Amino acid sequence: MRFVDIIEKKKEGQALSKEEIHFFIDGYVKEEIPDYQVSALLMAICFQGMNEQETAWLCEEMLYSGDVMDLSAIKGVKCDKHSTGGVGDKTSLSLAPMVAACGVKVAKMSGRGLGHTGGTLDKAESISGFQVNLSEEEFFKQVNDIGLAIIGQTKSLVPADKKLYALRDVTATVNSIPLIASSIMSKKLASGADTILLDVKFGEGAFMETSEKAEELANCMISIGKYFHKDVRVIISNMNQPLGNAIGNALEVKEAIATLQGNGPKDFVELCLEAGSIMLLQAKAAFSKEQARAMLKETLQNGKAYEKLVEMVKAQHGDVEQIYHPELLPQAEHVIEITSKEEGYVKELHALQLGLLAMRLGAGRMVKEDVVDPSVGIVLHKKDGDYVQKGESLASVHTKQNLDEDWLKDFYDSFVFSKNKVDEKPLIYKIIE
Ligand code: URA
Repeated sequence: MRFVDIIEKKKEGQALSKEEIHFFIDGYVKEEIPDYQVSALLMAICFQGMNEQETAWLCEEMLYSGDVMDLSAIKGVKCDKHSTGGVGDKTSLSLAPMVAACGVKVAKMSGRGLGHTGGTLDKAESISGFQVNLSEEEFFKQVNDIGLAIIGQTKSLVPADKKLYALRDVTATVNSIPLIASSIMSKKLASGADTILLDVKFGEGAFMETSEKAEELANCMISIGKYFHKDVRVIISNMNQPLGNAIGNALEVKEAIATLQGNGPKDFVELCLEAGSIMLLQAKAAFSKEQARAMLKETLQNGKAYEKLVEMVKAQHGDVEQIYHPELLPQAEHVIEITSKEEGYVKELHALQLGLLAMRLGAGRMVKEDVVDPSVGIVLHKKDGDYVQKGESLASVHTKQNLDEDWLKDFYDSFVFSKNKVDEKPLIYKIIE
């Protein structure tokens, strides 16, 4: 087989065979096929697409390019959840304890943030001492003993994706539905959970700009799930404004703690309840959505979900005093209130811009090697649909240094006001089960 013929075939819009896809992934991982040829194929895939069968085969080849976790040592149904990434997305930190408090095992492998989106591992690590690198035995034991763990992905999982993603990043080939779907699903399937819930976000702060594209990606991942006989369900959610109020690592941990104490922001609590209820149904721990939501709400009211977070932090060597007293989490030197120069209803709140602004404060990475500052970030006091008086606080900015003019200008530009009342846009657009 010659790789150039595979490129030619895809360039002409033909479907690749299983053998051809195997030749591609196997050859690339073994470094027998050079980056420039793979780049050409990736670009052809971007233009010509892949059908369902090709995408499932691609995912399968990527999945078996490395180790696949065997979670059978953990008793019961193991649930996983994944978000395609957004601004202020601290869902796993509240959702995993809520679901675990209902008796369902959450064996979660998370990632780090890059660019304007944050990563759960960075957030969790703002708790002093919190360990995300557990051995397999420690991971299994913890999930068996207390019902949840949030850890980093081991290096041996899906090496094909590591190579391909790095190449896609520099060849403008990230944005292809079959490539994104096989990348996400190969990692989720390699993590070994029995059920997978995907939160596919759309909007300017997300990978998919429109709800239609998000739905296309969701259906592609569900079809991969069917090929592997996995229960995969999807929430399509709006990422045109940040999720919750806090953006920035320790600030988001604080918001996740407040949520578990029953004081979370409305939109964030709703996402946790919706996602959690689907996970309980997937694990057959509830018979209906209503029952599942009631169970989850109870864990917030009776403190059981909060206790689960404490147990997890303790088990992963984090400082539980910071959970009992969130003011002990890393604090920035300055907290600057930014007041509104205008009056009116918030019509738009640009998530992407706000994510980038938090990154410029030091909350995120521009390149993989950057070190994040856990203490800095933005806490919004106004969101879509809220009425704002001139001089009212729009946000508190937690920062190490004073804010320069450029930063402030970009901040003000991320709010768009309207004189007329505006309807709140729904957070959850669709659920695909
Ligand atoms: N997230 C992933 O893991 N892979 C992609 O290709 C895009 C987003």
